[in-house]
Amino acid sequence: MTHRTNPFIPLYAFCNSGNSKHKLKNPAAFPYIIDIELTNLCNFRCLMCPTGNHSQQRPQGFMPEEVFHRILDNIRGRKLGLRFIRWGEPLMHPKVIEFLTAAKADGHLVHLNTNGSYLTEEMADKLLDLPIDSLKFSVQGVDRDSYREMRNVDFFDKLLETAAMLHEKRGLRELPFLQISTTVTYESKELQDAFLERVSHLCDATNIGATNFDWLDLNAIRLKPSEVELLKSLMQQDSVLRVHPECPEVFDKLSINWNGKVTACCMDSNDLMVVGDVACQSIEEIWNSDRLKEFRVLLADMRHDDMELCKHCWDTHNLFVPSPEVP
Ligand SMILES: C[S@@+](CC[C@H](N)C(=O)[O-])C[C@H]1O[C@@H](n2cnc3c(N)ncnc32)[C@H](O)[C@@H]1O
Ligand code: SF4
Repeated sequence: MTHRTNPFIPLYAFCNSGNSKHKLKNPAAFPYIIDIELTNLCNFRCLMCPTGNHSQQRPQGFMPEEVFHRILDNIRGRKLGLRFIRWGEPLMHPKVIEFLTAAKADGHLVHLNTNGSYLTEEMADKLLDLPIDSLKFSVQGVDRDSYREMRNVDFFDKLLETAAMLHEKRGLRELPFLQISTTVTYESKELQDAFLERVSHLCDATNIGATNFDWLDLNAIRLKPSEVELLKSLMQQDSVLRVHPECPEVFDKLSINWNGKVTACCMDSNDLMVVGDVACQSIEEIWNSDRLKEFRVLLADMRHDDMELCKHCWDTHNLFVPSPEVP
């Protein structure tokens, strides 16, 4: 069996070296990683997601070619990690393969997160031929029922079939590094372990995190009344331990919206931490902007509670796992 390592590990090692106080004193000259939102449109209506539940307030669209190429022009000559993730389904973008090809041709590491619904055999062949460096399937819950409840669609079995198809097609090829990741709410440790057992042979790495509802604005969501009730009841059962992490974003990464606006945090679905716009500024300028520096100063001091988005940012790998009930 081929043992693969995640090609992003050297970049993550840079990002994880030193705490935020150290990073404030020794700032990176340029981001190591850029998260690019090809679109904030999605074919799913996941209850826990601001795109899926329509609570996101900003305009929706697909990243225009000129915005994407402006980003590449700005970072040419560097080898960065480009992660095609954030608030939408990246494989819905009609130019996704062209964009990934251009990013690879410039020498960047390329990662994609997907709900798997657009990953046909034809798409799989294209991703394997490139190849992209890493791909993560996002699940939710631990089985068909818990997935369907939160993701609002009966797609768990098909998703695992799709993951198996890509894994099988990859065969002995080195890339892409394949991950299956889920977020949980109330699911027991036993069910989480059973899920890991079930999917671990379909990928190279698995991950379980907590679903974070604290970012959601319940007054803004647009769902059917029965879906709102379900969401509210799931929110009562969350497993997030409310501990702020050292900020994994502002010292090492930038995130770019589909329309070219740049934000300090990949989780910023509502433009609360916008620091620039690639339409009129270079990425270097944005990286060195006063607004981003202010965020770094606050976050090096762990003053998450002073900022609207950061006050809801938790270490979602720190799970509260309910104990089995005593008979
Ligand atoms: C917003 S999605 C965009 C990419 C793609 N559509 C997908 O589902 O993977 C990116 C990741 O955010 C996660 N996510 C969305 N809402 C979340 C929440 N409230 N708490 C934790 N993770 C969430 C999804 O599970 C997914 O792994
Ligand atoms: S989590 Fe992903 S699949 Fe679900 S609505 Fe949000 S963007 Fe779409």
